[in-house]
Amino acid sequence: MFKSKIREIDNCADESMPLNTLSHKNLKFIVFFLILVIFLCSYVVFSFINNSFESSKQSNLYLRPRSPNLGSAFVQRAILIFYPSNQEQHYFPEIRWLYRSWIEMMKDESRNWRTDLIIYTGNYSSSLQQLGCVLNEIRSNSTEQPQCRVFLYLRLSAREIDTRTEKQRLFANVHRKDLFDINIQRSILLYKNVKKYDYIDSVNIIAESYPTYKYYNFILKTDIDVFITKQFAKFIPVTNAALLVGLGGYSTPFNTRRLGRIARDMNWQHANMTNIGSTWYGSPYVAQRIADLTLDAMLHLSDNEFAQVERDRKLGVLLWPDWHYGVLSMYGTHLAVNHLLVSEKLGIKRANQLLDQSTTDPDPNNIEKNNRLHLHCWHTNKEFSKFEFKAGKYNNIHPRTLIHNTSAQAYAMRIALESRLMTLDELAQRLKNIGTSKTK
Ligand SMILES: *[C@@H]1O[C@H](CO)[C@@H](O)[C@H](O)[C@H]1NC(C)=O
Ligand SMILES: *[C@@H]1O[C@H](CO)[C@@H](O)[C@H](O)[C@H]1NC(C)=O
Ligand SMILES: *[C@@H]1O[C@H](CO)[C@@H](O)[C@H](O)[C@H]1NC(C)=O
Ligand SMILES: *[C@@H]1O[C@H](CO)[C@@H](O)[C@H](O)[C@H]1NC(C)=O
Repeated sequence: MFKSKIREIDNCADESMPLNTLSHKNLKFIVFFLILVIFLCSYVVFSFINNSFESSKQSNLYLRPRSPNLGSAFVQRAILIFYPSNQEQHYFPEIRWLYRSWIEMMKDESRNWRTDLIIYTGNYSSSLQQLGCVLNEIRSNSTEQPQCRVFLYLRLSAREIDTRTEKQRLFANVHRKDLFDINIQRSILLYKNVKKYDYIDSVNIIAESYPTYKYYNFILKTDIDVFITKQFAKFIPVTNAALLVGLGGYSTPFNTRRLGRIARDMNWQHANMTNIGSTWYGSPYVAQRIADLTLDAMLHLSDNEFAQVERDRKLGVLLWPDWHYGVLSMYGTHLAVNHLLVSEKLGIKRANQLLDQSTTDPDPNNIEKNNRLHLHCWHTNKEFSKFEFKAGKYNNIHPRTLIHNTSAQAYAMRIALESRLMTLDELAQRLKNIGTSKTK
């Protein structure tokens, strides 16, 4: 109970981060985050005691390790992110460390496996070009080297509607409409009703760009402020039809009942899954189904279950964790997943010990022993903190001093510091070298 309470708080912080940085003068938020930091510390201690047993059990259930047999199979995977191109200064450090961790992971990957990094963004900027990312190219065979792929995507807030023709601008590049499969009516509704919601695009890319990722056996849909661990090199979900959802923390008895009632209003089914995270690892088809229904649910929720003052964020976090507009996409995902579990019997499983794991854990055995596949920066100033990193607080640490330290904390720190010190050309060269070693 205590543990799940803390998780609720963590996740809210994650989801509402940009909102909070915007209104940092608000005293309520400051107090809220102080409490959060205290909770986080106790959480780390708590997870030490609790996690190992729970998670090793869980990994056996949901993960298939790279056996000699599987090692020779051609497994195709992609990591999918939305990157807001107009906030390069804020987000590019995260792109760098995600990219760096992706390469680090591939050193341990089978020669026959391919993991692409796919970035949906509004601009093929010079930085992305320097990183060696190719533009608007879908993978077409299993032997091509691993690639960073950029697909030009017009974010929802930029999809203006012509007042005369009532037509909406939908594409960043009108010559590549084939890359997307857009529900135009819904795109208009999303623009009119939830375009100000910050996390809409990271769901919408999955709903709209199925043609770009349906090729893969497995996709990892995630945020930018994450690290791929070496364990990711060795594990895939147990079946091609499975999808693992990461650690979410929004559920309370109140909102679980409320979401159940809303599902009945919508004529949707409702299983009993709670705290469903925003990171998904598994079948592209299942991911696309979830994203598609999540958007419908978000429209319904925004329209019927939140008042204008809530949508305008005037309540801050007053009703958190019971009911909070800042986690609208989580409530939407909750309704979608619970409906699909029953109505289409999709193989969706919670993997809250594998995905969205903490970057502050100092235990050197934790990543390997518990198969942490993916670390996610939470809202914290504890090492490793994305805020402290971006403020330059770690610049005096030499990454080489961390090379033999296998803790999540040291891994995140080393990868982030290295990605900052390396030039974009060096990062691109590392990718090429990995590709060459796989194909020779
Ligand atoms: C795209 O990136 C280029 C170079 O990085 C920049 O000059 C241009 O203004 C950007 N365009 C948009 C629409 O953001
Ligand atoms: C695989 O795709 C790449 C990129 O489209 C292409 O260059 C390469 O020739 C293809 N290989 C095979 C075996 O078809
Ligand atoms: C949800 O849980 C309740 C109580 O544990 C149970 O009675 C009900 O059948 C469950 N519903 C589904 C759809 O699994
Ligand atoms: C590994 O890193 C963790 C966290 O930075 C630290 O607590 C621990 O002392 C380090 N261990 C070694 C052997 O350096």
